Amino acid sequence: MYTPVITGTGVFTPENTISNAELVKAFNAYADKFNAENAADIDAGTLDAKPHSSEEFIFKASGIESRYVIDKEGILNPDVMHPLLEQRGDDQPSLMAEMGLDAARKALKAAGKTAADVGAVICAASNMERAYPAVAIEIQQLLGVEGFAFDMNVACSSATFGIQAAADMVKSGSISSALVVNPEICSAHLEWRDRDCHFIFGDVATATLIEREEDASGAYFEIKSTRCATDFSNNIRNNNGFLRRSRPDGVADRRDMQFMQNGRKVFKEVLPMVSAHIGQHMEDEGVQASDLKRLWLHQANKSMNDFIGKKLLGRTPEAGEQPNILQDYANTSSAGSIIAFSKYSDDLKDGDVGLICSFGAGYSVGSVIVKRHS
Ligand code: COA
Repeated sequence: MYTPVITGTGVFTPENTISNAELVKAFNAYADKFNAENAADIDAGTLDAKPHSSEEFIFKASGIESRYVIDKEGILNPDVMHPLLEQRGDDQPSLMAEMGLDAARKALKAAGKTAADVGAVICAASNMERAYPAVAIEIQQLLGVEGFAFDMNVACSSATFGIQAAADMVKSGSISSALVVNPEICSAHLEWRDRDCHFIFGDVATATLIEREEDASGAYFEIKSTRCATDFSNNIRNNNGFLRRSRPDGVADRRDMQFMQNGRKVFKEVLPMVSAHIGQHMEDEGVQASDLKRLWLHQANKSMNDFIGKKLLGRTPEAGEQPNILQDYANTSSAGSIIAFSKYSDDLKDGDVGLICSFGAGYSVGSVIVKRHS
């Protein structure tokens, strides 16, 4: 048995940002246009007018102030309201592979390693650009990694589930190292014309290198223990599968093929599930709340994180104990907790213990207890 450790992480951040002010301005222009074009139906009471979105609501309900996106122009054009992503040829790298490659190279650099040191690539994300060939195999080829690669999808929990899969393989000795890559093009499965959710997501890619402890060439995080759980729910759903092309009446129903959620129910049901999951994981591993130096939580909503942090620590977390990045990145699905971990972990001291946790659609929750060695 080998001890799996995290030796490097990397984050690819797109160049474009959209502030809440820009987002709301575009949405309201779209709503005004929709209302003007449909004035007769709205006046007749057969169609609801679209109400305006508000910056105050978005910040208060979510804590999000801005988001990074691959394409800003299409999203902010009231006549388009979705990213305009170029259709690439089959012989060009796919967008997910390109984003994942950048994050993977950064993770390798952080670990002081090259592609020759990697035994497997797992591309774990909430949406795949295509079903096959696996995006992970494309990243493997672009990096020049030998061995094998595969895709996995556990929505927002993809990164922690991927880390568990990689850590277990490293532990057993079937591989000596793996890159877990999380390219999330959330902007393409978000309905930017839906006021209830148009502010939720952003784009990003993260990567985590997991190796055997004896192969680490610098400071690292020992993976003490991982724990994954799922419980089926329709409250967060995306029907963009290959069987879903149109409604029974033949009308294309894009809305059903994008991100759908019952946010209030998610809030109510996921919070107890996550708190109980982490609490049990810590108890089983003999980790006390006072042992935890840092929590790197899934980045969907500030109130959710505040609640979980308080519940776990038994007090309001101090600044820095539970870093949030969602104010700058919004919800980036599986990548969120890894962005927080990547940006806010170098300062931990030898022996410090922390916990990475992601949760979301499925429902799914994954937690990783790590210990710093420096
Ligand atoms: N601007 C202004 N008002 C808005 C609005 C917007 N953009 N969006 C919704 N509202 C209104 C609603 O219409 C509603 O009005 P009403 O009270 O008159 O009916 C009111 O604000 C409250 O809406 P609600 O959807 O209940 O807000 P909320 O407090 O639940 O916050 C979320 C919404 C999505 C931020 C929150 O539910 C959440 O974060 N849920 C969990 C999300 C999550 O983790 N999902 C996982 C995704 S992977």
